[in-house]
Amino acid sequence: MFGHFSHTTCLISKLFLTCLYCVVGVCCRDFSISLPQNFQALSGSCVIIKCRFEIEEKHDINLVPESAATGLWLKDGDKTNEHLVFHSTDHKSNHFNGKITGNLLEKNCTTVFYNVSSKHTGRYYFRIESGGLKYVYTVNTSTINTLPPNPQCSCMWSRSSLRCSAETLCSSPPPTLTWSSTPRIPLSESSRLEELISDLNFTATHRQHRVTFTCTITYQLQDENKTAQDNITLHVQYSPKNTSVSVLPSSSVLEGRSVTLTCSSDANPAVLNYTWSRESEGQMEQLQTGHTLTFDRIDLKHRGWYHCTAQNQHGTQNSSVMLDIQCEYYITANLTLSHSLQCKVNYKMNSLRSSITLHQSLTHTSTLQCASNNTHGTASQRIYVTPQVSSTFYRH
Ligand SMILES: *[C@@H]1O[C@H](CO)[C@@H](O)[C@H](O)[C@H]1NC(C)=O
Ligand SMILES: *[C@@H]1O[C@H](CO)[C@@H](O)[C@H](O)[C@H]1NC(C)=O
Ligand SMILES: *[C@@H]1O[C@H](CO)[C@@H](O)[C@H](O)[C@H]1NC(C)=O
Ligand SMILES: *[C@@H]1O[C@H](CO)[C@@H](O)[C@H](O)[C@H]1NC(C)=O
Ligand SMILES: *[C@@H]1O[C@H](CO)[C@@H](O)[C@H](O)[C@H]1NC(C)=O
Ligand SMILES: *[C@@H]1O[C@H](CO)[C@@H](O)[C@H](O)[C@H]1NC(C)=O
Ligand SMILES: *[C@@H]1O[C@H](CO)[C@@H](O)[C@H](O)[C@H]1NC(C)=O
Ligand SMILES: *[C@@H]1O[C@H](CO)[C@@H](O)[C@H](O)[C@H]1NC(C)=O
Ligand SMILES: *[C@@H]1O[C@H](CO)[C@@H](O)[C@H](O)[C@H]1NC(C)=O
Ligand SMILES: *[C@@H]1O[C@H](CO)[C@@H](O)[C@H](O)[C@H]1NC(C)=O
Ligand SMILES: *[C@@H]1O[C@H](CO)[C@@H](O)[C@H](O)[C@H]1NC(C)=O
Repeated sequence: MFGHFSHTTCLISKLFLTCLYCVVGVCCRDFSISLPQNFQALSGSCVIIKCRFEIEEKHDINLVPESAATGLWLKDGDKTNEHLVFHSTDHKSNHFNGKITGNLLEKNCTTVFYNVSSKHTGRYYFRIESGGLKYVYTVNTSTINTLPPNPQCSCMWSRSSLRCSAETLCSSPPPTLTWSSTPRIPLSESSRLEELISDLNFTATHRQHRVTFTCTITYQLQDENKTAQDNITLHVQYSPKNTSVSVLPSSSVLEGRSVTLTCSSDANPAVLNYTWSRESEGQMEQLQTGHTLTFDRIDLKHRGWYHCTAQNQHGTQNSSVMLDIQCEYYITANLTLSHSLQCKVNYKMNSLRSSITLHQSLTHTSTLQCASNNTHGTASQRIYVTPQVSSTFYRH
């Protein structure tokens, strides 16, 4: 009865104390450790075990500088004598080569093991010794898997950057991540290397379409350099670019010839349709679709500006060309009231002029002929001169 009472009092006071401790932020502490449960180490490199431990409050007096705290690692068992593989102050030749880089007084048991090999594979137990404190943490352990030196890295496109990431494997000196591309394009300076993540920031444009980016990670291991690569080929969609019109045989053609205008453009996805239009008297006249526009017999009236508009899902782009039609022969003749006959011959935009003056009045219809010839042929025009004639127009 008394004992029961006493137990209840104790419980109440303990609860009270717990609450009090919680209020000031120091809950009743117990032994605990947090470390990665499972991780991989690369043969020939090093391994870092990030580790933090906690001790019962009553042992706080033991974890003081005067006690010269030591950290021990036991492997594949918790018996200090049998399983010891590392002692922070007493290195044995059969022990693992390593170092506790954390400050034990701050309960940081972070440890690095160098020269990892397959014999490091196993389950690790941490033991703390400091004055009267001697404790092996058996609940949480860390299992190291040693990998053959076969590093990997991976590239991916995310939002506005290409990211290359590699497994965070310890190596000294630290591994390097580098970028390259095929075809070569200048890679932006904004690439950064941080915790084995390298970002290549740029705005994807048609310039990066089909460019293969290669990310390479290089580890300098004990006796060899190991590299791994990953590739990513960008497929960038873009509106028509480099739209241009070409004219065959040439944009300056003789009338009567056949002419083909061809529109080409680079777009991804490919151009859906090409639309031809012509500017006439300030108005746009839609002609046809298709990437070519053919005139079987070009005529003077076809002279002018032609526009080709290339379109895909992402936009349009246009290009224009001036079609200059040259007439082979172009003869105009007129008879003025003063009975002077003028004959003008055009040949490929050059003109010849000739005139004759009739000194006598015409009483009846007569025929006059204006003729011109050169190596390409002959052109002529007949003019039937009547007293009423004013002008005629004839093309041949
Ligand atoms: C075991 O580790 C986890 C996290 O790593 C931690 O939350 C937990 O308190 C640890 N347990 C013990 C008994 O150390
Ligand atoms: C523990 O020590 C390591 C090595 O000095 C350090 O990198 C890490 O930040 C420390 N961790 C904490 C929680 O202080
Ligand atoms: C790793 O081992 C090699 C021999 O196997 C030795 O020469 C080297 O010093 C060791 N490196 C470290 C950091 O202990
Ligand atoms: C690259 O982009 C990432 C994600 O958008 C950003 O966090 C980072 O700061 C950028 N780096 C540079 C050097 O601009
Ligand atoms: C590894 O690469 C480094 C830097 O390029 C070089 O100095 C070193 O000699 C290489 N080591 C081996 C074993 O090839
Ligand atoms: C990456 O591309 C290069 C050259 O294009 C090729 O030699 C290499 O095998 C590729 N690597 C991977 C992981 O696909
Ligand atoms: C457009 O033409 C220029 C010059 O010929 C070329 O450098 C560029 O790559 C072309 N762009 C596309 C998207 O083909
Ligand atoms: C070209 O294709 C687009 C998309 O299919 C369409 O909206 C447009 O009307 C087409 N233009 C012509 C002239 O056919
Ligand atoms: C060609 O493109 C320009 C600018 O993009 C635009 O102002 C013009 O109206 C277009 N012309 C035709 C014929 O589509
Ligand atoms: C026709 O005659 C008029 C008046 O003399 C002249 O101005 C004009 O240039 C002539 N036309 C041609 C084609 O010779
Ligand atoms: C042009 O015609 C004249 C007269 O018919 C002829 O003598 C001359 O050879 C011709 N010239 C050419 C280049 O055909």
